[in-house]
Amino acid sequence: MTYNDVFTRACYKQEVKHVPVWYMRQAGRTDPDYRKIKEKYSLLEICRQPELAAEITLMPVKKLGVDAAILYSDIMNPVASLGIDFDIVKNIGPVINNPIRTAADIERLRPIDVDKDLSHIMETIRILDKALKVPLITFAGAPFTIASYLIEGRPSKSYILTKTLMYNEPHLWNTLMDKLGDMVITYVRAHIANGGKAFQLFDSWVGALSPKDFEKFVLPTITRIFSELSDLNVPKIYFPGVSSGELLPTLTNIQSDVMGLDWRVSISEGRRRTNGRFAMQGNLDPYILTAPIDVIKQYAKEIIDDGIQEPGFIFNLGHGLFPEASLDKLRELTEFVHEYSASQLKK
Ligand code: CP3
Repeated sequence: MTYNDVFTRACYKQEVKHVPVWYMRQAGRTDPDYRKIKEKYSLLEICRQPELAAEITLMPVKKLGVDAAILYSDIMNPVASLGIDFDIVKNIGPVINNPIRTAADIERLRPIDVDKDLSHIMETIRILDKALKVPLITFAGAPFTIASYLIEGRPSKSYILTKTLMYNEPHLWNTLMDKLGDMVITYVRAHIANGGKAFQLFDSWVGALSPKDFEKFVLPTITRIFSELSDLNVPKIYFPGVSSGELLPTLTNIQSDVMGLDWRVSISEGRRRTNGRFAMQGNLDPYILTAPIDVIKQYAKEIIDDGIQEPGFIFNLGHGLFPEASLDKLRELTEFVHEYSASQLKK
């Protein structure tokens, strides 16, 4: 089998024979074989076994026929190396045992040490680099999204403690953003050095901010991350998460190649809001996957018709897959995206 570079080409707005597709959170909970593995090991235990983490990464590539793999890991993994003690708790998500709230807490955060603390993740990437015939996307959590977990101590709806720090102690907030920005830069560099072929910065919860506060409190760090990583010769994706459509016009100057959209903004509107600067990735509402397959295909068709108006389009979901999504429907959707887009691009 020859290497499938259609995802990379689309990221760089090059010509493609069909629209590439992958799904956020494709590696994991939708797959009964994965759920069996989870009966024995926790997510963090799996990540410490590179062969097993690589096998889980490969499952959706084999079963769904997607055009990219995403590393089986979690955005929380590198924060262990900052000196944060956390767990991923079933039905809750990341839970921090020592949440950071004070200047001293922020002061104590160490720079990450990839060789000492994260070598298992690098080993997984090296195994995958040998095994894969599609690009491996690695990822990091963006500073706001990581900060929200570190400060709240668990998933939050209001981000009240995060915003309390941001509005009351902007100087401390900036120190935290700087440290988390450094973490991302060091971590992503190591991914790519070990064989990662693209990376996505997940800012899942930053849509909680107004554009003005995003520009003031977060954007400088996002800009710095992509600028300091601009020498890396791989596609770079920023995903500003759910409800981030209003932030798009503030993002036109970051040095990423691809912008991820949630389902609230169409692909063409996303392009308009960012002056056509980026390839676009998205944006089916994952919960549409609960509908009959013909309904799913109709939604996908509309997204594809819109997305292929300009070069640089990657089909994905507007947010992560939910555990109950059906593998059969995902397989059919993948085939549909490939075949329908190929027929339209030929015209
Ligand atoms: O295919 C993939 O994307 C697999 C790799 C991956 C995981 N987490 C594994 C995981 C990725 C890219 C992530 C990113 C992640 N983790 C994000 C950003 C993406 C998004 O959904 O916005 C966030 C916010 C987290 C934090 C996190 N990790 C939460 C909120 C949870 C629990 C809630 C949930 O979605 O289940 C996790 C646990 C987690 N990370 C699971 C998996 C497969 C599920 C639990 C498990 O299988 O043990």
